[in-house]
Amino acid sequence: MKECNVYVTRMLPKPAMELLKENCQVEINPEDRVLSKKELLEKVKGRDAVLCLLTDTVSEKVLEAAGPACKIFANYAVGYNNIDIKSATKGGIIVTNTPGVLTNTTADLAWSLLFAVARRIVESDKYTREEEFKGWAPMLFLGRDITGKTLGVIGTGRVGANFAKKSKGFEMKLLYNDLRRNEKFEEETAATYVDKETLLRESDFISIHVPLLPTTKHMIGKKEFKLMKKTAVLINTSRGPVIEEKALVKALKEGEIWGAGLDVYENEPALESGLAELDNVVIVPHIGSATVETRTSMALMAAKNIIAVLKGETPLQCVNPEVLKKIG
Ligand code: GLV
Ligand code: GLV
Repeated sequence: MKECNVYVTRMLPKPAMELLKENCQVEINPEDRVLSKKELLEKVKGRDAVLCLLTDTVSEKVLEAAGPACKIFANYAVGYNNIDIKSATKGGIIVTNTPGVLTNTTADLAWSLLFAVARRIVESDKYTREEEFKGWAPMLFLGRDITGKTLGVIGTGRVGANFAKKSKGFEMKLLYNDLRRNEKFEEETAATYVDKETLLRESDFISIHVPLLPTTKHMIGKKEFKLMKKTAVLINTSRGPVIEEKALVKALKEGEIWGAGLDVYENEPALESGLAELDNVVIVPHIGSATVETRTSMALMAAKNIIAVLKGETPLQCVNPEVLKKIG
């Protein structure tokens, strides 16, 4: 175990790095930046385990480069669309993620964006700082009410369900759409299951909580914006490509919807041309899970997954359990 060789693609919170170092040989990317494709290919070579990030594209080539000794790629994220899972499974490499520990934190960010857009917090902060504030005015920064409005939640996994539950204090009418009805969610929230079109047509606030899959890519585009209310606010804290960003910019510009709050982007970290010039959008740099507490928990979880697998034990969670069966 102690001689096991682990590579960490970017420095993570200290408690997790220490835990790894107590148990194995650890090399950490000394620079606080994403590794290039070439660097990643070189660095994973001959490792027993790799701790990677959502900004690392773990292709079949990378998995092959890691070599036959490699047992696990532990992703420091709940989403794992950055990893070629099929190839990992084929190669007998376990892939783990960090679900659960970031659920509240990500749902809280979705609410932060919703409030910020509805009450025009960023615009009015800028205005106040720039000393434009000359006194109370009846028409200054009029926003949109939240309490009592209709909230549409797309995707009722951990984060979506948590986000929806938090609407209770705001006495909102709750609509949801998912691949199928989620009875447990309905019991917990009294939400109504509707098709996507109805949700888009009837919701004042729409928040997206789906994983990025071929079937969810561009699930919100030109056609969908046309269905939404002109007063609608769209929130996305899931993955950027779920929204057709070009169509979003157009919808925001032309007043097809009222506003949007985004944590993720179609071609992250690039923004669609025109997006950053709009006042009716609040944009933050993929900080859904970014709190001191949560990032530490995520790092510890990834480290514990690596240690468990290197010890021959079952990891806390695994996104390709077929591999465990094969090894087991
Ligand atoms: C963040 O986007 C994550 O998937 O954890
Ligand atoms: C992520 O944790 C989700 O399942 O929504």
